[in-house]
Amino acid sequence: MQAITCSAPGKIYLFGEHAVVYGESAICCAVDLRTRVQASSNDTILISSDQGDTGLDHDRYPYISSVIEEMSKMTDIKGVKLRIDSDIPVGSGLGSSAAVTIATIQALNLLFGCNLGPEDIATLGHSIERKIQGAASPTDTYVSTMGGVVIVPVKKKLNIIDCGIVIGNTGKFSSTRQMVSDVALLKKRYPEMIDPILSTIGRISMTGEELVIKQEYRPIGELMNINQGLLDAISVSGPELADLIYAARSAGAYGAKITGAGGGGCMIALSQLPDMEKVASAITRAGGEAIVTRITEHGVRVEH
Ligand code: PMV
Repeated sequence: MQAITCSAPGKIYLFGEHAVVYGESAICCAVDLRTRVQASSNDTILISSDQGDTGLDHDRYPYISSVIEEMSKMTDIKGVKLRIDSDIPVGSGLGSSAAVTIATIQALNLLFGCNLGPEDIATLGHSIERKIQGAASPTDTYVSTMGGVVIVPVKKKLNIIDCGIVIGNTGKFSSTRQMVSDVALLKKRYPEMIDPILSTIGRISMTGEELVIKQEYRPIGELMNINQGLLDAISVSGPELADLIYAARSAGAYGAKITGAGGGGCMIALSQLPDMEKVASAITRAGGEAIVTRITEHGVRVEH
């Protein structure tokens, strides 16, 4: 029996969420939390994970089922067995849907010899996310495919940030679509105030790019804190996120801010490697689920 395991990473926003919706720059980083998909030849379609076993099932496994359907247009997939394992909490802004989509595309690509290259994989992944979510930015699927630190919309890869990333999950549900539409409403009501905030966030990403290249982590942390202040100004923070952010800063993080849509979901703290556990404990004491990780250059890959 032929079998292959592929994995793809989740992501965080170092700078620029929300402003990126209006064409401003953002810096997004793949993190070392991965979703693994083992694909093996089988007579029928079988998808299995901790959520149970099923055939093609758009309710339980919308992304995987859509990948199988889309790739059946390129090659004859009579059957396949897929086993999914993931480190990425679902629906918390860390790119879990992009990671499972990209890892599944690559596993089927290699098992069935479809000859898709990285750009094809990212494009197909984005079209599947868009179909399922209604609207989706190409960032998550691009970063999950390519890995590393990427400035968007230009999609230029920067060097790796060799620091600790401590994620704090509030566990509070938040809808990206709702948060994006709330910001749009605020922008419509107060354009003369909100537009400069969004362009300042874009400028933070541009300045941040230089600092990432020079590996100047303390000022990167300062810019994260300024970015957080501006995200608060456009009403996408909240008490749960703020508690975790201030706890992480007090524990010695270089900087801390929301990652992704806000309103709930996750925050991130950039920290010196020896301080990671201290920052994680502070986040836990403040009521969050702390996840200690690193930025990774590895996008989608085969696992041996
Ligand atoms: O929370 P996430 O990971 O879906 O990120 C949303 C990022 C936004 O900039 C708020 C929206 C977008 O599509 O870029």
